[in-house]
Order: sequence, then structure tokens, then C-alpha cells
Amino acid sequence: MSHLIKAIESIKPGFAGELSGMDLSQRLTDAQVDAIHAGLDRFGVLVVHNQHLNDEQQIAFSRQLGQLEQATGDIMSDKDRRLSMGLNDISNLDKNGELLARDDRRRLFGLGNQLWHSDSSFKEIPAKYSLLSARHIPVTGGNTEFADMRAAYDALDEETKKEVRDLICLHSQIFSRGILGFDDFTDDERAKWAPVRQRLVRRHPMTGRLSLYLSSHAGGIEGWPVPEARSFLRDLTEHATRREFVYVHVWRPCDLLIWDNRVTMHRARRYDAREVRDMRRTTLTNEVSSLQQAPV
Ligand code: OGA
Ligand code: MN
Repeated sequence: MSHLIKAIESIKPGFAGELSGMDLSQRLTDAQVDAIHAGLDRFGVLVVHNQHLNDEQQIAFSRQLGQLEQATGDIMSDKDRRLSMGLNDISNLDKNGELLARDDRRRLFGLGNQLWHSDSSFKEIPAKYSLLSARHIPVTGGNTEFADMRAAYDALDEETKKEVRDLICLHSQIFSRGILGFDDFTDDERAKWAPVRQRLVRRHPMTGRLSLYLSSHAGGIEGWPVPEARSFLRDLTEHATRREFVYVHVWRPCDLLIWDNRVTMHRARRYDAREVRDMRRTTLTNEVSSLQQAPV
């Protein structure tokens, strides 16, 4: 089967590609692995339809692209986990496969995915790729949107480019959930999610392109008063998520999406809480901090 990556029509060329001709449940050749990396370097988001993956296959496929990150970003206690530690549970289900109640703490925490973010930017070593497999999707709603942070950086005026270039932001899940009024954290969670430092502008190690590294987890800029930092980050986010930089993915069953968190932000869209949405995410670690990806 020969593979092909083509730009998805009707959106800005260079953001979101559709990969076809690969069965990701099978071991990939080196050429196929190289093609996926090259596709992500070019597009930032890859869409692959009709991938019938079980959890083991998803993990095995992800490992062929790099080192897995541990799924420690949620508030699920080990005894409540539905999925193995290699997988992030992006669903509205409990471990028995029942829908979470509307006011369940885990569901409310998960609503943070509906804010623009880059995965694991609240970890000192953030995420490189995320791989999200659609196992069950609602009839309506629940799209995922992606913003191209390279194009957003390029479109800044020169003065703003200079201003943001060397800024360091502070990221924490406490900040992102705080935006939604969720502050129901245990002392352990507060300690685990103490703010971490990330560059606001980072350079992609392969393409050399610069991108804005924004995320709703960012709640401060080092050396800046908090309200001024947050209002600036809000303005930058508004700029970066203008429709011209955004690809809207309407899910089909068995879609697998891969995105590069270094150059994109994403967010989930609302859906009916009485419908099942079962998505499972493997995540690759960036292996180094964004602090080591300075513009020059
Ligand atoms: C994620 C995420 C968005 C969605 O898996 O990291 O933010 O639409 N998902 O479920
Ligand atoms: Mn996410």
C-alpha cells in the first residue's frame, strides 16, 4: 500500500494534511515512520481515517514515533481509571463505561479541554505529538479545532514579535481550570501542578520555524504583573485563533488525529452530555523543555 499525504481542501495550505494508504494497526516501515514525521513537520496536524485501533495497537503505533509520556495530567485516581496508564481518557465515561454525572468532578475538570491549549504545557517537559483515536463519537457536536501557531506568529507585527521573543510564561492546570471557575483541587494536586516555565516563542528543531507557544494553562509572564500578563496572553490568543488560522475537524468513527503540540493549539467543542464520546489519547514527550527551543 503506498501512502500519500495531501492538504485538506478549503483550508489554508500548509495546515492539516490527510494521510492515506497506511494501516496504523500494523508495524510500520521506517519509510512510513519518516513520512509521518515529515507530514507533521509540514502540516502540524494529520488526519487519518478508518483506523480500527485497540489500546495496545494505539500504544504500539505511538511508540514507533517516539517516547510515550505518562498519562498523569488528569485528576483520576488510579482506582477509578478506565484505561491503562499509557492512555489519556478523553471520554465522558467512568471505569464501568457509564456516563459521568453532569456535576462529576472528573467531567468538570475535563471541560478544560474546551479551552484553547497545547497538551501538557503544564509539565516541565511538555508534549510533542498527541495521537487521538475516536472510538465512539456523539451524533452532533464534539468537533475539535486546531490553530496554527506558526502562521499566528508570522502574522504578528514586527513590534509584537520583538516584545514576545524572549518572554517566559508560567503554566499550570490550576490557571486553566480557574478560568472556568473550577478550583476544587486537593493539596496534592496543587503541589503537583505548581506553575512551570515555558517560552512564549519557540523554534521548531526540524523546520526552524517560530511559533507562539500559548495555552490556557498559561497564567502569567515572568517579571510582569499578573493582570497585565493575562490580558496580553488573552490578546495573543484572540489573534492566534482567528478563523484563518483554524482547522475544524468533524470526527468520523475510527478517525485518528495526530498533531504537533509545539506548533498548534486545540480545543474540544461542546456536545450533548447524555451522549457517549469515547476518545483515547496517547502522547509523546517533547523530551526537552521549551526553554531549550529559543528563537535562535
Ligand atoms: C486532547 C484534547 C480535544 C477533544 O485529547 O488532548 O484536548 O476534542 N481533546 O477531545
Ligand atoms: Mn488536549
